[in-house]
Amino acid sequence: MAKRRSVDPKYSMCVQPSFIIGTNNEDGSANFAPITWASATHEDGDQYLFVISMAGTKMTKKNVLRTGVFSANLVSIDMLPLMDYFGSKHAKDGAKNDISYEVVRGEVLDVPVLNESRWVYECEVARTVETGDSTTFFCHIRNIQMDERLTCEDIFDIDLTVLDPVIYFLVGHLNHQSRKF
Ligand SMILES: Cc1cc2nc3c(=O)[nH]c(=O)nc-3n(C[C@H](O)[C@H](O)[C@H](O)COP(=O)(O)O)c2cc1C
Repeated sequence: MAKRRSVDPKYSMCVQPSFIIGTNNEDGSANFAPITWASATHEDGDQYLFVISMAGTKMTKKNVLRTGVFSANLVSIDMLPLMDYFGSKHAKDGAKNDISYEVVRGEVLDVPVLNESRWVYECEVARTVETGDSTTFFCHIRNIQMDERLTCEDIFDIDLTVLDPVIYFLVGHLNHQSRKF
């Protein structure tokens, strides 16, 4: 049996997947930013909702609130420099074009998609929930683009060695997290 102690409920032990969210700016250009507060929940049948939470007044959040659509591009290890760049520059400080990357359009939704990503969700917001300065979007997944090397026998048969996903763990407690965003 583990020996535990009770502490202030401010520490974080939430291991997160890493997605780069692609949105349309008002002028039609593309914007990308990493968002790791991402999860899923069940809907009717074998449908599930993609759940993603964004804090503050960042452009990505404004774009999702305005258009109701976005792409969620899974980050693989080779995409870490992109995630680092997109996460350290804010769209309000200018277009994120200091490094090169390829953008294509979604197959089903009119959203910008990162060509590098091996797994892309094309999402449409179904409903939103506000908590403090954060907005959580519950989204219909209108399309999934998966790497052609994946051969899935059922919906849970996903070969992670093909996706090589980045797992994000925020070091520190929640006060640090809210400052960062
Ligand atoms: C690894 C990483 C994870 C992040 N996760 C989130 C998140 O889950 N929610 C959020 O609101 N911001 C998150 N951010 C912050 C945004 O990506 C960052 O503020 C970005 O510059 C916003 O760009 P924008 O202003 O162009 O939308 C994260 C940043 C990094 C580097």
